[in-house]
Amino acid sequence: MQTLTLTRPDDLHLHVRDGAAMGSVVNHTASQFARAIIMPNLKPPVVTTDDAIAYRERILSAVDEKYQFEPLMTLYLTDNTSISEVKKAADSECVKAIKYYPAGATTNSDQAVTDIKKTYDTLEAMMKQGLLLLVHGEVTDNNVDVFERETVFIDKVLTPLVNEFSELKIVFEHITTKSAVDFVMQAGNNIAATITPQHILLNRNDLFKGGLQPHHYCLPVLKAEENRQAVLAAAISGNPKFFLGTDSAPHSKTAKETSCGCAGIYSAHIAIELYAEAFEAAGALEKLEAFASHYGADFYGLPRNTDKLTLVKQEQTIPEKFSFGDDELVPFRANGTCAWQLKK
Ligand code: DOR
Ligand code: ZN
Repeated sequence: MQTLTLTRPDDLHLHVRDGAAMGSVVNHTASQFARAIIMPNLKPPVVTTDDAIAYRERILSAVDEKYQFEPLMTLYLTDNTSISEVKKAADSECVKAIKYYPAGATTNSDQAVTDIKKTYDTLEAMMKQGLLLLVHGEVTDNNVDVFERETVFIDKVLTPLVNEFSELKIVFEHITTKSAVDFVMQAGNNIAATITPQHILLNRNDLFKGGLQPHHYCLPVLKAEENRQAVLAAAISGNPKFFLGTDSAPHSKTAKETSCGCAGIYSAHIAIELYAEAFEAAGALEKLEAFASHYGADFYGLPRNTDKLTLVKQEQTIPEKFSFGDDELVPFRANGTCAWQLKK
């Protein structure tokens, strides 16, 4: 049977929510990843280092003792994030980055940044303190076509930002377009990007196949096939600017299967297996380890993990649902299969 042994990977973009819901999902991630960058878009958001420290403790208490898992925390940037908060975050052991959501761009982003220029003093301080900026790269203007919002963001917001802060480390999160790939490739070494499993496995037809598919709806929304191919090519390129970040984003079944459903795909239960499938289909399995386990750690200035994870090429069946606090969660590939599984 075919096996693949990797340095244990890190997930550089993850939502675990809070409370009982968190308890239902976090061990999926802890069973395969050594570390994960935890997104701060809770209700209310994680805006201070003290919030992040408390949230980290709650996560650790929900992780099963048999796993060695390190949550790496982020703060939620607002128009008012102070320079002293940036210093506090940088001095903490636990906060690694600050997340920039354009206000209104996605789940729980209402209190986020209304105009990035309002935060330029904060970004200056982050650059000096060596804190990373993580970017949800979509404009929120309703007059801009939803499939173009990433590309327009690059021109209107990201390019001026990168020109202004030439040494700020920026992760362009969950890239979905050829324009994002091209932007990251031509930018300096302070610019990198995360890539999700859904954006290299699916295209926008998968939103409508056989009827509306709410469990394939995430933000940035799935794009056309040529964009999927460009993002996949970046993932398997061996360019260290592109690394793994699942953006696994659980929402209850009730919140997804409704007239105004939430954005987010839950992939944590088979995250590394999905990437293995995509890399194998592209004939690039040998590129998976660096993408999943080296480049993200290197960009964040973290030591690479030393223990290993083994995958087996053996089909697994995905459950119809998981429990999710008091509710249920429909995972990616529910009732379907995945070609790989973790070695037991
Ligand atoms: O699909 C998404 N879900 N995209 C995001 O940017 C946020 C996330 C969430 O928190 O649900
Ligand atoms: Zn996210």
